[in-house]
Amino acid sequence: MKKKKYDRLKKECFEYLREVFAPEERIFVFGEGNLNARIMLVGEAPGEEETVQQRPFVGKAGKILNMFIETLGVGRDEMYVTNIVKFRTVKKNENTGRLSNRPPRRQEVSLCMPFLLREIQLVLPRVVVSLGNTALQALSSNVRAAIGKEHAKTANMTLPGGETVCLFPLYHPASVIYNRSLAGVYEDDLKKLGRLMRERFDRGTP
Ligand code: URA
Repeated sequence: MKKKKYDRLKKECFEYLREVFAPEERIFVFGEGNLNARIMLVGEAPGEEETVQQRPFVGKAGKILNMFIETLGVGRDEMYVTNIVKFRTVKKNENTGRLSNRPPRRQEVSLCMPFLLREIQLVLPRVVVSLGNTALQALSSNVRAAIGKEHAKTANMTLPGGETVCLFPLYHPASVIYNRSLAGVYEDDLKKLGRLMRERFDRGTP
């Protein structure tokens, strides 16, 4: 039942994005995982490796994410993992012609947001973990929200259908690659997330 809905949603999303972008211009990557997950992770946008494999978080950031997930004692197969934006957002170096990732623009976020909300509604996890600033700002509907201030602070998020889910903001796993000093903060935040999950999951509260 949920699988059918998921397949339809993914198809609808890709058809919609194909109308917006030239077919060869973008490779789309949809969320994946356990459709009955109690925890959903939401990143920013796929990177290069993710577009090759057409799966979220399978590159460098994904490897770090997997390590973090292990510390929570939850398998990745128990989670649903997705991104705000369903395609790689890039900038081109005019001298070398090389592409590198850039943060998504507001318009790109707005384009994909309705599909993400429907993904959340479909899975209806107890906790949605936003990874990094883009995901935090999009999910808290606050473009001024800053992960440096909001990390590990829970908030309630109301879905278009009126359902509420708990939002837990984490730094983006890639930020630890660039800023090693965040490793300790990340560890503490994961401990808090572990506690929150035990609370929410054991008590059976929705
Ligand atoms: N970074 C993200 O935010 N998402 C991915 O899927 C990969 C890297």
